[in-house]
Amino acid sequence: MADKQTVISKILSGKYQPAKAVVDVFAPANIALCKYWGKRNLELNLPVTDSLSLSLGTLGSHCKLSDTDKATDRIVLNGNELSAEHPFVKRLVTFLDLFREHPSERFCIETTNTIPTAAGFASSASGFAAVVKALDRRYGWQLPAAQLSILARMGSGSASRSLWQGFVRWHAGQSDDGMDSVSEPLESQWEEICIGLLVLNRNQKKIGSTEAMKRTVETSALYRAWPQQVERDMTCMLSAIEQRDFEMLGKTAETNALAMHATMMAACPPVLYWQPESLIAMQTVWQARNEGLPVYFTMDAGPNIKLVFQKADQDAIEKRFEGLVTANPWEDD
Ligand code: PMV
Repeated sequence: MADKQTVISKILSGKYQPAKAVVDVFAPANIALCKYWGKRNLELNLPVTDSLSLSLGTLGSHCKLSDTDKATDRIVLNGNELSAEHPFVKRLVTFLDLFREHPSERFCIETTNTIPTAAGFASSASGFAAVVKALDRRYGWQLPAAQLSILARMGSGSASRSLWQGFVRWHAGQSDDGMDSVSEPLESQWEEICIGLLVLNRNQKKIGSTEAMKRTVETSALYRAWPQQVERDMTCMLSAIEQRDFEMLGKTAETNALAMHATMMAACPPVLYWQPESLIAMQTVWQARNEGLPVYFTMDAGPNIKLVFQKADQDAIEKRFEGLVTANPWEDD
C-alpha cells in the first residue's frame, strides 16, 4: 500500500527551487454541508465518501513560514509559542518532516487563526492548507491547487477542501495512493448564501475526529447506511445549488449533519459532541423556521453550531442568535 512519502515523491520530485526565507499566506476554513465521516485509508486520510463544503471567506488561517537556526521547529499559534510536547506541535512537525528539502532545516511557523481553534470550527483544515501553501511558496513548487489539495489532505482530511473559496467538492477517489482523492471548486457562485458560526463552548474537544471516525466505522451498526445517505444528499445538494433552491440545500445539509451524528452516537462507546447548548441552539433554529425565518444548521466534531442562511435574512438572524459570527463564503482575504 502507498505511504505518504511515496505519494509526495510522485508530486514533488524535481520541483524544489531555491528556498525563500520568509513567506506569508492565508487559507480559508471550510464547513461541510455534506460531511466526510470515515476513512478508507488512515495513513493517507482517504475518505469513504465524497463531501461538499462552503469556505468561510476571510475566516481561516494566516501562516508565516520562516527559517530558524534553533535545533527544533518553532510553532507559534495565535501569538503563543507552543512547547514541543503540545499535540498540535507533534502533529505539525511530523507533517513538516515529509517536506524538508534538507533533513537539518528547521522552520518557524506562525499561525494565526481568525476562527476559534479546535472547537469544531475546522481550524485544522485551514491550518494544514495554509502550511502546504506556504511550503509551495517557500520552495517554488508552483503546484496547481488540486495537487496542493492532495498534500493538505495528508495533514488533515478536510484541509483538502481549504484551497478555494465558495463551494468545494472533495472526490473520494478509488486509487490506493489517493492521487484521485482530490478536491475541486464548483463553478457556481451563490453569493446570497452565508454561514454563521455560533460559538457555544470554547473547550477543546475530548475526542479527535480521526479516533471518532475510526470508532464509528468499526463499531456503529448505523455506519453501513452512511455511504448511501451521502450519495443521496450529494445529488440533492448539487441540484439545489444548480436550481438556487435554498430550502432544499438547507434541509439536506441539516439532515446530513444529524445523520452523521446518529452514526457516531451508535458507536461503542458512543461519540457525542453535543452539549446542552448545542441542543438548545438546534431547537431555536427549528423555532425560527416555524416562525418563517429560513435558517438551517450543521454541526461537526465539536459542540458548536453553524447556521446556513441567506444574506437577506442576516440582520434578523444575527438578532435572534446573539454573538453569531457571519462569514461570506466568496470573500477573499
Ligand atoms: O479533517 P478532519 O479530520 O478534521 O475531519 C473533519 C470531519 C468533519 O468536520 C466532522 C466533517 C467534514 O467534512 O469536515
